[in-house]
Amino acid sequence: MNKVLYEVRDGVAVLTVNRPEALNALDLETHAAIKEAALRAEGAREVAGILLTGAGEKAFVAGADIKELAAARSADDLERLSLFGQDVFATLAALKKPVLAAVNGFALGGGLELAMACHDRVLCENALLGQPEVNLGIIPGYGGTQRLPRLVGFERAWSMLRTGRPIKAAESAAAGLGTLLPREGFLDAAKTRLKVMIDHRPRRLEPAPLPVPEMPPELELGHLSRSIDALLQAAILEGLRLPLEQGLRLEARYFGACHETEDLHLGLRNFLEQGPRHPAPFVHR
Ligand code: CAA
Repeated sequence: MNKVLYEVRDGVAVLTVNRPEALNALDLETHAAIKEAALRAEGAREVAGILLTGAGEKAFVAGADIKELAAARSADDLERLSLFGQDVFATLAALKKPVLAAVNGFALGGGLELAMACHDRVLCENALLGQPEVNLGIIPGYGGTQRLPRLVGFERAWSMLRTGRPIKAAESAAAGLGTLLPREGFLDAAKTRLKVMIDHRPRRLEPAPLPVPEMPPELELGHLSRSIDALLQAAILEGLRLPLEQGLRLEARYFGACHETEDLHLGLRNFLEQGPRHPAPFVHR
């Protein structure tokens, strides 16, 4: 089965991430297929803009493929996975044709990171957006620590990243993540919006460093791993003091470093054995 469907109509290439059985989670093959489809659309004379969405009723993309993350054997392996995904997202972000993410359901972890690498986003009213990685004993690895603060501001991103709590579409839109659209006629309305984008130059995310407060707010983290939180705080605070590209490389290094904690292994195993609603028994090491 094609992991990304490619269809061109009326000058718009619709790329549909197509793994509905795993809520369109991004494994390596899907990443490669996204890059290939994006470059195909960029090179196609009949395409003026690109719409990226997810197959099925429930999800845009539910994140990186957790089974693949759990199969990583070392910090280097995990860092490589991060760099591989970051490269795909950098390709999307750099396209000359406008890329609009049509967020039609869950956009979690790598799913929100994928949407944030696009030039703009429309959010279906049933969408849920977040960076829940800390529940798994990891940190975002496809740009979340660097792109989210640049889009929604430091304080909100600090809270979303460190608590892992997702936000609904209306709140996401108010925070600056995209434009809210009704469920009925969602894809048609998304295409109309893309056509407006086609007439303008793509909006690029500001790559300059972002000022960070000297004393970022304290947060209640409940059962979440303190050792993973320390890596996450460093990735955010050190990364934002750098231009985007260098901040992303630093994020990948901290993502890999999660492999050296006990909590990464506890968190990923917990998801695979108990599912998403059972809190992981973190030991803060
Ligand atoms: N990776 C692999 N498989 C996934 C997945 C993921 N990210 N998300 C969902 N799936 C799979 C589930 O394991 C399940 O498979 P089975 O039917 O074989 O058991 C199937 O998709 C359907 O999922 P659920 O039964 O869990 O559906 P639900 O409606 O009950 O819950 C959900 C939906 C709340 C989104 C839940 O699936 C969930 O929490 N998923 C994980 C979300 C997440 O943590 N994303 C971040 C991943 S890590 C990351 O992205 C790191 C990074 O930055 C690089």
